[in-house]
Amino acid sequence: MEYSQKVMDHFMNPRNVGEIDNPSGVGTVGNAKCGDIMKVYLQIENGIIQDAKFKTFGCGAAIATSSMATELVKGKTVQQALEVTNRAVMEALDGLPPVKVHCSCLAEEALHAALWDYAEKNHIVIEGLKKPVQDIEELHHLED
Ligand code: FES
Repeated sequence: MEYSQKVMDHFMNPRNVGEIDNPSGVGTVGNAKCGDIMKVYLQIENGIIQDAKFKTFGCGAAIATSSMATELVKGKTVQQALEVTNRAVMEALDGLPPVKVHCSCLAEEALHAALWDYAEKNHIVIEGLKKPVQDIEELHHLED
């Protein structure tokens, strides 16, 4: 299996590892199949994501995609953050091997879970944001 240099870089030197105290939104999503878990914290002010951090107990691709996803959403509006899909994250990392694509879905879903939490806390609706799942396996069942 070949990983791009960017994937290796974000795996070896992940950006934004950690927690945010009193986050505007926090979301945890797991994948029951591989047992990996990702938690994303967002600091949002005036609708702009000021800071994003994560803690991932998972494979290298899960760590690299959480690192890149948190990098990509910083400075974006909540609405723009929805464009940071697993595909966008994979592209920014110069791709992932096909068997590792599901790891990037974990990053997207954890980000959505944190945005959902933010929306609920602030009684707002983020257009286009669907209620996140706790286990991404549920997503596959929905898509099937
Ligand atoms: Fe589980 Fe990568 S193998 S997220």
